[in-house]
Amino acid sequence: MTQPVRIGILTVSDRAHQGVYQDRGGPAVVEYLNEVLLNKWEAIAQIVPDEQELIAAALQQLADEQKCALVVTTGGTGPALRDVTPEATESVCQKMMPGFGELMRAVSLQVVPTAILSRQTAGIRGQSLIINLPGQPKAVRECMDAVMPAIPYCIDLLDGPRLETDPERCAAFRPRKS
Ligand code: MTE
Repeated sequence: MTQPVRIGILTVSDRAHQGVYQDRGGPAVVEYLNEVLLNKWEAIAQIVPDEQELIAAALQQLADEQKCALVVTTGGTGPALRDVTPEATESVCQKMMPGFGELMRAVSLQVVPTAILSRQTAGIRGQSLIINLPGQPKAVRECMDAVMPAIPYCIDLLDGPRLETDPERCAAFRPRKS
């Protein structure tokens, strides 16, 4: 039997970590992937405060030890003093994938003028694709809709598990028949 695809979901928020409010970004990522992915998959979810070292350590653990093919962060991408998710991401990635952030901002700008306030990015650590999303559940969906078609092929290129998406919901694009 094939193992479920492991996907890391890292919520970055001081207040969600303290329990001051409930995490809404992480559950929005789970809900989105349940709708779109046809594979059996397993969420490895964590919540960390907005501390660069803690975010970086969690990303390393999700990539290196948990062997997540995909790691999605939510929150901490804005300009506020404590927003450091992109810096933590960059510090653990061997390669940056700037196209993800560029596309998410371009698409989000059609919805909200403050989309340019998100510094979200993406990169590769080992065989894991790490993608930053903003914290709001609505933004999670808008951004995932934009980049989801390219994620399965990116993971193919990292020799990861083959992701299949529901074509009615979001068609994965593979330039070469594989
Ligand atoms: N992108 C989308 N698609 N939808 C949104 O509502 N909100 C923006 C931006 N990107 C938004 C969005 C706002 S208001 C901010 S401050 C930044 O994301 C950063 O959000 P974060 O600090 O929760 O990461």
